[in-house]
Amino acid sequence: MTDHFPDGFLWGAATAAYQIEGAHNEDGRGESIWDRFSHTPGKVFEGHTGDRACDHYHRWQDDIKLMQELGLQAYRFSIAWARVLPQGHGKVNQKGLDFYSRLVDGLLDAGIVPYATLYHWDLPQALQDRGGWPARSTAEAFAEYADVASRHLGDRVASWATLNEPQVSADAGYLQGRHAPGHTSLAEMMATTHHLLLAHGLAVPVLRRNAPQAQVGIVLNLQPHVPASARAADVRAARVGDAMQNRRFLDPLAGRGYPDEVLAQYDGPRDFVQAGDMEMIAAPIDYLGVNHYFRTVHRSADTPDEEVTTPVGSHKTEMGWEVYPPGLEEILVRLHKDYSFPAYYVTENGAAFADTVSEDGQVHDPHRVEYLRNYLHHAQRAIDAGVPLKGYFAWSLMDNFEWAWGYSRRFGIVYVDYETQTRIIKDSGRLYTRIIKENRVISN
Ligand code: FCB
Repeated sequence: MTDHFPDGFLWGAATAAYQIEGAHNEDGRGESIWDRFSHTPGKVFEGHTGDRACDHYHRWQDDIKLMQELGLQAYRFSIAWARVLPQGHGKVNQKGLDFYSRLVDGLLDAGIVPYATLYHWDLPQALQDRGGWPARSTAEAFAEYADVASRHLGDRVASWATLNEPQVSADAGYLQGRHAPGHTSLAEMMATTHHLLLAHGLAVPVLRRNAPQAQVGIVLNLQPHVPASARAADVRAARVGDAMQNRRFLDPLAGRGYPDEVLAQYDGPRDFVQAGDMEMIAAPIDYLGVNHYFRTVHRSADTPDEEVTTPVGSHKTEMGWEVYPPGLEEILVRLHKDYSFPAYYVTENGAAFADTVSEDGQVHDPHRVEYLRNYLHHAQRAIDAGVPLKGYFAWSLMDNFEWAWGYSRRFGIVYVDYETQTRIIKDSGRLYTRIIKENRVISN
C-alpha cells in the first residue's frame, strides 16, 4: 500500500442549503417543506429552525476564507430550489440565482472547485401543496429547475449532483414522518422513490446540454447491511435491508430495474412507473457520490419483526451510529465490483460528537480526529483495491442545522457558536488541513 493518495485526489467539505444559509425569507426566496416542517411544533428538537442557521447567506465571503484557511480544494454545496424558483416552477427569482452566482465566482477566485447539488431535501412548499414527490409533476418541475440552474451556473460549476440521498427523502419524509413533509404512507414512499429517480433521469440530459464540460452524477447514502449471524433469518433481513437502502436506487440507475425485495414490500398499484421511465433513469452518469456514515447489522427475531442492532461494545457517535471504518472500504469495493460506475466520490463522511470550546479557546475533538483518520485509511485501501475513488468531502464544513435534531448535533470540522456566529476550526479541521497538504493520512 502506498503512503499517498493518488495525484489529483480532490479534498473538500460539504454542506447543504437549508442547514447553513438562514435568510429564509430574504430576496424573494419561497417557502420550502423544511421551513414549514421546522415551524410545526413538535417536529424538530426544541423547535429549532433553519431561519438563521449559520447565516451563510450573509457570511459566504468569510466562509470562503475559512475554506481557504482549511486548504480545501473543492466545496460541495446545495442550491435551494425555492430561492431560484419560489413556486418550484415558472417564475425565476433572479436574486436567488445571483446569490449562487456570486458564491460560485467567489469559490473560483479562491481556487476552490464548486460541486453543486440541486436537491438536498428542501422541496418548495408550493410543489408539496400540489402533491409533492408522490406526484409525477414534481419530477417534471425538477427538470425545469435543473435547466434554470445549469443555464446560469453551468459554465462554472465543475460537477453537478442531481439529488442527495433520495432514500432519506422518500423514507424519512414520506414513510416515517421524521423529516419534511412528515407523511407516513407506504404508497407515497414508493411513488416518491420512483419520482425522485425519474427527476434525476429527466435532469441528466438537461445538465449535459447546458453544462457539457461538467461531470454529472447523483449522491446516494450507501452502507453495508450485514447479518448478525449465519442464521437464515438474519441473512434474509440483511438482504432486504441492502435492497431497501442500496439496491432500490443503484439497480434502476444501472438499468436493472427495481429489486424484487423492494417490489415485494408493496402490493398497491404501481402505475407511477410509465413506459420509458426506467430507460430515462438509467442514463449514464459520470460518477456516483457516496455518502457513508455507518453500517447496519441485522438480527432478526424468529418473529417477522426485524431488529436492527449495533454490535455490543462498538463505539457510537452522538447520533448512535456505529463507528466502523472498514465499512467505507467494504461499500466502495462492493459498489465497484457489482456496478462499476466510472468514478466515485465520497460526498459525505463524518461524525457528530458533543464538542465544546475549551478554556484555551480551541475545540478539541479527539473522537472526530480518530474517525477521520480511520475512515480515510479505509478509503485509501479501497483505492489500492482498484476502486476509482476520485475525492473525499468531509461532512461537514461547519456545525449546522442537523434536520430533526436541530442544532443539538455537531458534525463540523469547524465549530459554530450560533449566538455570535463565530467559527472556530476544530482539531479535526486542523488535521484535515495537514492531510490535504501532504495528500496522505497523517498518523500523529
Ligand atoms: C446525511 C445528510 C446530511 C447530514 C448528514 C449527517 O444523511 O445528507 O445533510 O444531515 O447526514
